[in-house]
Amino acid sequence: MSKSFDVIVIGGGPGGYIAAIRAAQLGKTVACIDEWKNAAGGPAPGGTCTNVGCIPSKALLQSSEHFEHANHHFADHGISAKDVKIDVAKMVARKDNVVKQNNDGILYLFKKNKVSFFHGRGSFEGKTEAGFAIKVAGKDNEVLTGAQVIVATGSTARALPGVAFDEETVLSNDGALRIGAVPKKLAVIGSGVIGLEMGSVWRRLGADVTILEGLPTFLGAADEQIAKEAKKAFDKQGLKIELGVKVGDVKVQKKGVSIAYTNAKGEAQTLDADKLIVSIGRVPNTVGLNPEAVGLLLDERGAIVVDGDCRSNVPGIWAVGDVVRGPMLAHKAEEEGVAVAERIVGQHGHVNFNTIPWVIYTSPEIAWVGRTEQQLKADGVAYKAGTFPFLANGRARALGDTTGMVKFLADAKTDEILGVHIVGPMASELIAEAVVAMEFKASAEDIARICHAHPSLSEATKEAALAVDKRTLNF
Ligand code: FAD
Ligand code: NAI
Repeated sequence: MSKSFDVIVIGGGPGGYIAAIRAAQLGKTVACIDEWKNAAGGPAPGGTCTNVGCIPSKALLQSSEHFEHANHHFADHGISAKDVKIDVAKMVARKDNVVKQNNDGILYLFKKNKVSFFHGRGSFEGKTEAGFAIKVAGKDNEVLTGAQVIVATGSTARALPGVAFDEETVLSNDGALRIGAVPKKLAVIGSGVIGLEMGSVWRRLGADVTILEGLPTFLGAADEQIAKEAKKAFDKQGLKIELGVKVGDVKVQKKGVSIAYTNAKGEAQTLDADKLIVSIGRVPNTVGLNPEAVGLLLDERGAIVVDGDCRSNVPGIWAVGDVVRGPMLAHKAEEEGVAVAERIVGQHGHVNFNTIPWVIYTSPEIAWVGRTEQQLKADGVAYKAGTFPFLANGRARALGDTTGMVKFLADAKTDEILGVHIVGPMASELIAEAVVAMEFKASAEDIARICHAHPSLSEATKEAALAVDKRTLNF
């Protein structure tokens, strides 16, 4: 007899596992199916984010930043560290251990919340009166029945046409996170989030990194002023970024790879490198899901078509995270997962797409929420801007990291905060205050009047809010 559940979640990434836990908290019987395998073939829930995304990339960013500090910044503090070496195998093993702790944490959370976990590939078999029949192909092949199904099957790296990932020389995010030795020359195609984060890791460890970007503008999604400031910092670090290129033939050789491209001036160029990371975006993943069995609609990109509330075209089937429209971010997937679970029990789950923060974990970090100055101009919104540089912040000076600024954009009439953009130390943490403020429809003056601890980086946020009214106190 098939096992029946109120809710079956297919995919155990941040969208899926969080949806499963929330549905269980709300009293539903829940199954979560995930096929990710660890090196020993065992379950490794957490999806791209935990296994080959957010978590491992941040572990390597941390290790490589320590290395960079030991080599270049300790001396400023009077600390001499000679002959600093990096043991890449140990660094990667530490990263793998961080990943494992997160995998195990999710399995523990499933137990704690009474979510039944199934290790294997889930696919639609059809619909009966009892609900949707979902086949699990794994160690024990079985068929589950669910009254409601949440699809959270995520995304995979997009390859360059005709250039398959071999994860040895041509790397996706997966291979980029387990390079065994520092390459002498590393090429990256795409200066988006992965290109910048992974490029930074291997540059810090000593690789000569060149990033080839198709668009003529750097980080077009970020505020122009912030992107400019970040680019200046990356240039200074020696991270080479070539904009406006057209990538041609990519030839994998016996040793390394050769990339033919045309630069922004239209000149033919060749870049030879030991390894190539291709980070040109990701594609929604529905491989093996068999959506046709229930008539589930996909769009031309392969994403599951959903409405603003994550309802698919089939009543009772929902989809969240990277496999649907919207930004491919773990916290966006999680918010959708929670909202769907709440909608299933008749509550009014809600995701505010206007206050989803973006963070790029480079050094300096880049973070923002809300609209950029160029978007406000395009939308014809009258706004006021206020900026405050970390150079004038006491804590930043004490840290020895004064790159960048905080920038506020507020409505010219009402002073409501419309966007906050940060490039600089701990931008990833500082942005949370701006998200809270925007959720509560705060004005710039609200932030300016709130007491911020001294000395702290958050004082730069307060000062940028003061700058909107042209009354900074420390600049
Ligand atoms: P996924 O995390 O992709 O999870 C989907 C899961 O479903 C996987 O485990 C997969 O094996 C499983 N699955 C798929 N099909 C089936 C099936 N038929 N049956 C069973 N299981 C199935 N986002 C951030 O917010 N912050 C970051 O710092 C960040 N860093 C990133 C760094 C890198 C290198 C990459 C690649 C991504 C990063 N992201 C980051 C993006 C983030 O990883 C994704 O947005 C997030 O993982 C999406 O979650 P999801 O649950 O939709 O899908
Ligand atoms: P991306 O969309 O961030 O950047 C891709 C870049 O490649 C773009 O700048 C694009 O113009 C360029 N590009 C596309 N095709 C090209 C070509 N043929 N030649 C040269 N350049 C080309 O995608 P990326 O970096 O692959 O990351 C995928 C997604 O993963 C991100 O959009 C983000 O949603 C998520 N992510 C989030 C992180 C975070 O939140 N810190 C970290 C890493 C990934």
